[in-house]
Amino acid sequence: MVGNYDKSKNLEQKKAAAFRAVQMVQDNLIVGLGSGSTMQIFVDLISERIKRERLHLSFVPASKKIEKYSLPFGLNLLDINYVDRIDIAFDGADRIDEQNNLIKGGGGSLFRERQILDMAQSRVIVVDSSKFVSNFAKEIIPIEIVPYNYRWTVHKINLLGFIGNIRGEATPFMTDNGNYIYDAYNLNNFDVTETYHSLKLVAGVVDVGLFKENDYQIIYSHE
Ligand code: 5RP
Repeated sequence: MVGNYDKSKNLEQKKAAAFRAVQMVQDNLIVGLGSGSTMQIFVDLISERIKRERLHLSFVPASKKIEKYSLPFGLNLLDINYVDRIDIAFDGADRIDEQNNLIKGGGGSLFRERQILDMAQSRVIVVDSSKFVSNFAKEIIPIEIVPYNYRWTVHKINLLGFIGNIRGEATPFMTDNGNYIYDAYNLNNFDVTETYHSLKLVAGVVDVGLFKENDYQIIYSHE
């Protein structure tokens, strides 16, 4: 449903899925740390494992928010500009369709999340059952856009069949990169790859919250 990001739901499922994800981490890895409430649970659980098993792990955070959340746990956090590899990345998602395409960016961190997922040698998406949908018609696709001349950028996005709102409206939400988020949706179903490329070609668009990859491992729980 349009705009329905109820993150308080399915906490037990998120915990169960995050628990399974944490078991996949081996010692001495550089781990990409996505953003969102599921990743916060992941941080809680991996911190316990690090202490219990004395693991040597480093983490590359995908947002200022997850970085701030992780600091009190004493995780070894690395700046992405100073790492030459990420071994495994974990992240959440807002929606997953029947072809395993993802919508991400509900927390506004899509650009940095994509950078980390791109760089990682393996990728794990951790979700609860509320994230699964048959297709992305009417689902919100967060689009990160440059503030300069943003109304023209929105106009060009609208011409491609997507309508929506600037997140925060009068006081726009700012991403970690200093940009706006246009929360867009299409009333009809659409081809994910084609649409990603069309939206990405609009001048002013930084990134589009559509992720199409065949090599994501998806961890979920219905518990
Ligand atoms: C942030 C994201 C998150 O991965 C997504 O919003 C999932 O969040 P949560 O784990 O809180 O359900 O894409 O930009």
